[in-house]
Amino acid sequence: MITTAAQLREKYLQFFQSKGHAVIRSASLVPDNDPTVLFTTAGMHPLVPYLLGEKHPQGTRLTDVQKCIRTGDIDDVGDAVHLTFFEMLGNWSLGDYFKKEAIAFSYEFLTSPDYLGFPLEMLGFTVFAGDEDAPFDEEAYNEWRNHGVSEKRIARLPKKDNWWGPAGITGPCGPDTEFFYWTGPKPAPEVFDPSDKRWVEIWNNVFMQYFKQADGTFTPLAQKNVDTGMGLERVTAILQGKDNCYETELFTPIFAKLDEIRGVAHEPGTPRTAPERIVADHIRAAVFIIADGVVPDKNGREYVLRRIIRRAIREGSNNLGIKDAFTAKIAEVVISIMGDFYPELVAQRETILSELNREEETFQRTLERGTREFEKMVARVPDFVTNKVISGKNAFNLYETYGFPIELTVEMAKEKNFTVDMKGYEEARQKHIADSQTAEKGQNKGGLADHSEASAELHTATHLLHKALRLVLGDHVAQRGSNIDGVRLRFDFSHPEKMTPEQLAEVERIVNEQIRADLPVVCREMSPDAARAEGAIGLFGNKYGDIVKVYSMGDFSKEICGGPHASHTGQLGGFKILKEESSSRGVRRIKAVLVKDGAAEQK
Ligand code: ALA
Repeated sequence: MITTAAQLREKYLQFFQSKGHAVIRSASLVPDNDPTVLFTTAGMHPLVPYLLGEKHPQGTRLTDVQKCIRTGDIDDVGDAVHLTFFEMLGNWSLGDYFKKEAIAFSYEFLTSPDYLGFPLEMLGFTVFAGDEDAPFDEEAYNEWRNHGVSEKRIARLPKKDNWWGPAGITGPCGPDTEFFYWTGPKPAPEVFDPSDKRWVEIWNNVFMQYFKQADGTFTPLAQKNVDTGMGLERVTAILQGKDNCYETELFTPIFAKLDEIRGVAHEPGTPRTAPERIVADHIRAAVFIIADGVVPDKNGREYVLRRIIRRAIREGSNNLGIKDAFTAKIAEVVISIMGDFYPELVAQRETILSELNREEETFQRTLERGTREFEKMVARVPDFVTNKVISGKNAFNLYETYGFPIELTVEMAKEKNFTVDMKGYEEARQKHIADSQTAEKGQNKGGLADHSEASAELHTATHLLHKALRLVLGDHVAQRGSNIDGVRLRFDFSHPEKMTPEQLAEVERIVNEQIRADLPVVCREMSPDAARAEGAIGLFGNKYGDIVKVYSMGDFSKEICGGPHASHTGQLGGFKILKEESSSRGVRRIKAVLVKDGAAEQK
């Protein structure tokens, strides 16, 4: 019988291994080359190329435990089951088995006493009801009936509930069948009603048969896949007879630390409050995000991270009475609970703690500065005005320029008998979001990896650039992002300061020297450990699981990468840096092109 989270991870992987699945590693939370999402939101995400037909080096049956971040439900965090960071157990068929076998595997894992051992009486199932895009999923329905599930326990739901696609706009998708567990008083109701929150969703099997196009239409996929996802935290809670995710060993040590920091004693048996849960959830998420190379800052995923950390700090100071810096203390507990399964937390320990401390200090200064600005704003309104209103634009500026949270503006306004024009604030905010999305779309044109010759050459140039940067600036240079749009390359890397013109010229010179040397580009497949032992650089937490591709360019560069690449560096012609700029704090960005007329060589 499984009872702990560690056992659940192990048994899940073992079960699917016994059914011919290869175990792959969790990919990074930062999607590799996928502009459609900021974070990995499900186990299928890093597998998209394989769901679309690319051959996976480990075969057609895969299983893993994937780190996931979902911030769409952030306002629900604090209830019994919502989390921003969670672990997803998954199994995949890449054009291998389909509905019948997938359901048989799920049924066995759910009900067998060797695994979850859930009685059928406690389970409810949903299947896709059918609409103009795809028919009722009769096959899934019949499979559940064949396994002895009562028709009263199978709900037929429309696309909004029983259809799954990636968080982005386009991608592989299809009807799904979801499994729910009854967490209310026993016995479970005879008829399954998925709208009753005491039925908790625990696992989802998606039958990916379609590709959703940008225009909203669905075209059949050449390869039919299965994509499943089980929530580790929820199932662990159920196995331990808990009605919420926060009372298992994944969280209890975090709360013990929080009690210690606050100097309070927790009454055993009483549920943790929403502020306590938010702090625990958000710091857990922040620890994992920082470990995957993101630092808090103003835009994109850096900003999501900042928001998560600041929300935790505000809950701690406003609702839990914590006066001093505390996030790093909580982070240490997270590292100690999760570090065995996720060694990257241990490896990145110093960075995680120092980024949290730094963000806590920055936020403190933000609050002080924002309060001063707020006071100035309020003082400008003459005494005789009776309806004192802070305009939406001003409230938004306070937030946008000083990072001052709107809730604080509202609170402080109230104390001074002001109101805040929330409608105007929302309008200003929406306008800002629309503007930045337009800007982001512009940056992302090019989309998923394209395999043109020009892109392959730019990939190769990226490796030469990476190595040249390390030679000129030092070994602290590590890739933080890369994007190729068929015309230019963009490379983000860790480096604390602006590069000098001399450094840029030297990097350009080295790359061109290696192009002229016409080095052969050789690809070999090996385990990440072997790659590390050979001194390969690059992103180790990646989608290739236990086998990685290592590309070598003569003796000059050796890097882990999915490719594709040019066959010789000579093909690249000449390399020219267009721009060097800041990307986010501690991260620089270089944009460069290849010049085919030899112009760059003469430089
Ligand atoms: N990708 C599916 C989900 O996230 C399994 O629910």
